[in-house]
Amino acid sequence: MNTKGKFITVEGCEGVGKSTQLRLLNDYFEKEGIDAIFTREPGGTPIAERIRGILLDKNLAVSPRIEAELFAVARMEHINNLIKPSLEAGKVVVCDRYIDSSLAYQGVARSLGIDNVYEINAYARDNCMPDLTIFIDMDPANSWRKRNGTVILNDRMEGESHEFHALCYKGFKEMAKREPERIVSIVPDEDKNVTHKAIIQAFKEKGIV
Ligand code: TYD
Repeated sequence: MNTKGKFITVEGCEGVGKSTQLRLLNDYFEKEGIDAIFTREPGGTPIAERIRGILLDKNLAVSPRIEAELFAVARMEHINNLIKPSLEAGKVVVCDRYIDSSLAYQGVARSLGIDNVYEINAYARDNCMPDLTIFIDMDPANSWRKRNGTVILNDRMEGESHEFHALCYKGFKEMAKREPERIVSIVPDEDKNVTHKAIIQAFKEKGIV
């Protein structure tokens, strides 16, 4: 879909080792000399990072619809000012969370509906869909972070109930079922290097590396 560069997103519930895998991917691209940029959502540009501050503030209550719109507008800003220009320059863009987080968190967990959240994200849907999405398929009830006994409630989303996070997981599973061509589910192994190899394998199968 993206003619010059490649757009990859990494998705999953909280505490499932997404950050560790992103670090390993960064090392891999550096070692291979692949021109890649790593970014995140919500965020990635100065304005989108400001919107992130609003979205993750524990002291602010936001309605589901406004929450979904704010994620979408931060995304539009990110697409126009970082993702698209980087893809046009032929880079690999790796984004920590993207539209599937909206579909899972706002669409399913906040009950707005996947189709409605796709509509709210029409700009991203029509202009900038990932070439490949890696879904780290782990139930948040079993997350590594919980196993280590360190449940840290840093932001508004992390402070949500167990039921909320279970619904997010259900949302990701539903997306993986709906879009199997784009979304590759990887069940993480205890050994982070095994998970990393599985991710690189998925890249190879899609012709990304
Ligand atoms: P972050 O600290 O980046 O989470 P993590 O380290 O788990 O990736 O916070 C982002 C939070 O925002 C996370 O709880 C998921 C949520 N989110 C949505 O609800 N909708 C979205 O569209 C995006 C991109 C994130």
